[in-house]
Amino acid sequence: MSEHQAVIQTDIVKGTINKNIYGHFAEHLGRGIYEGIWVGTDSDIPNINGIRKDVLEALKQLHIPVLRWPGGCFADEYHWANGVGDRKTMLNTHWGGTIESNEFGTHEFMMLCELLECEPYICGNVGSGTVQEMAEWIEYMTFEEGTPMSDWRKQNGREEPWKLKYFGVGNENWGCGGNMHPEYYADLYRRFQTYVRNYSGNEIYKIAGGANVDDFNWTDVLMKKAAGLMDGLSLHYYTIPGDFWKGKGSATEFTEDEWFITMKKAKYIDELIQKHGTIMDRYDPEQRVGLIIDEWGTWFDPEPGTNPGFLYQQNTIRDALVAASHFHIFHQHCRRVQMTNIAQTVNVLQAMILTEGERMLLTPTYHVFDMFKVHQDASLLDTELICTDYEWKGETLPQISISASKQAEGDINITICNIDHQNQAEAEIELRGLHKGADHSGIILTAEKMNAHNTFDDPHHVKPESFRQYTLSKNKLKVKLPPMSVVLLTLRADS
Ligand code: AHR
Repeated sequence: MSEHQAVIQTDIVKGTINKNIYGHFAEHLGRGIYEGIWVGTDSDIPNINGIRKDVLEALKQLHIPVLRWPGGCFADEYHWANGVGDRKTMLNTHWGGTIESNEFGTHEFMMLCELLECEPYICGNVGSGTVQEMAEWIEYMTFEEGTPMSDWRKQNGREEPWKLKYFGVGNENWGCGGNMHPEYYADLYRRFQTYVRNYSGNEIYKIAGGANVDDFNWTDVLMKKAAGLMDGLSLHYYTIPGDFWKGKGSATEFTEDEWFITMKKAKYIDELIQKHGTIMDRYDPEQRVGLIIDEWGTWFDPEPGTNPGFLYQQNTIRDALVAASHFHIFHQHCRRVQMTNIAQTVNVLQAMILTEGERMLLTPTYHVFDMFKVHQDASLLDTELICTDYEWKGETLPQISISASKQAEGDINITICNIDHQNQAEAEIELRGLHKGADHSGIILTAEKMNAHNTFDDPHHVKPESFRQYTLSKNKLKVKLPPMSVVLLTLRADS
């Protein structure tokens, strides 16, 4: 008898896993944009029109569906007009007090999205900006021709308007975006969004600035006062094993207790989605408004010796398990959760990629995004799991989680993670509705040590390997998962 039993109903679809759940976020913060993505055309680092080639190629591999920019807190002090045509510098007050050159602006961001073949998600400035400024940015980007802003865009080298699908009306307006009360922000939201207009056939999905973690009142007020004027409402939640102000804990030097608490806090996103979702259901029972989790991921103390304002942290197998656990939860809520954006893509917080000069490495989190991309836009299959506990010092968590989806061509992908840092897990999975044997393959991401990570001298220390610790006989799948592992099993349709 296996410890864990699951039934996947291969012929019952519970919903569609919106590919935007696999979205990203890149802010003008530390070395996230400058160095990480943008090196400029004069750089010795190989680049395409200023965007570093190695990073671009690695990110393309992930099939990023949507990229959020320019912040974060930075968004509510960003004045877009300084970042087009003749650039004007500004002070980046939130992140290290650096001078922002504005070399990377709207044109460069849109070019990046075109190269990545992803949708841009731009966050506008409510905190320190004006309605006019926001309205003109939309006009600049999306109006065809003959207006002051569209003509300025053309003068600056972009003939055609861009397609802009996602637009956020402010960020964290309860905090760095203006320290507002929800009632005040809800009114401002109503006002600002009025001028976020659809021009030249462009249709904007408007996202209201949402709650911090468990501020359910914020969600309630926003839904009550403005649900009809929004397409999405955001939510921010970071996995922090320690205390936000007193010490979050190290990204690499942590104890078993910290491993457990990290997993526990990662799983908390499930409760948050349910509770915010219940409030949203009250005002929007049809679930039209998306819950947009546009900042999530681990947040640890910055790497020793780095600028604390740059939020640069290493990334271990622990981060990989946090990412995989989040995705399994997001899939479960795929009706309400229409988009999420991990913070952040390169060199900041739970990054996919770290760079040092001309060198770069892919983090364990990158590999999870790469393995899980098969779920993008796939049909979520009905899955039931009876699993035993991962116990640590009298506390428990479910040891494994599982998610299965079917692609349009019929391939079934099953991802499983074992968050237990000490014990392996054996799972027996019945694949109901699977009548014939299927050609199959497995991939695993795991490590011997809790803090295993990639360094610039050893960039492939943690990487996916082929996985064979499973058997498939008729419709019974038996899998042995090592401690701290993420597995992807693919059953091919055409076999
Ligand atoms: O991602 C880092 C910061 O975290 C963002 O700028 C802000 O929105 C959040 O507090």
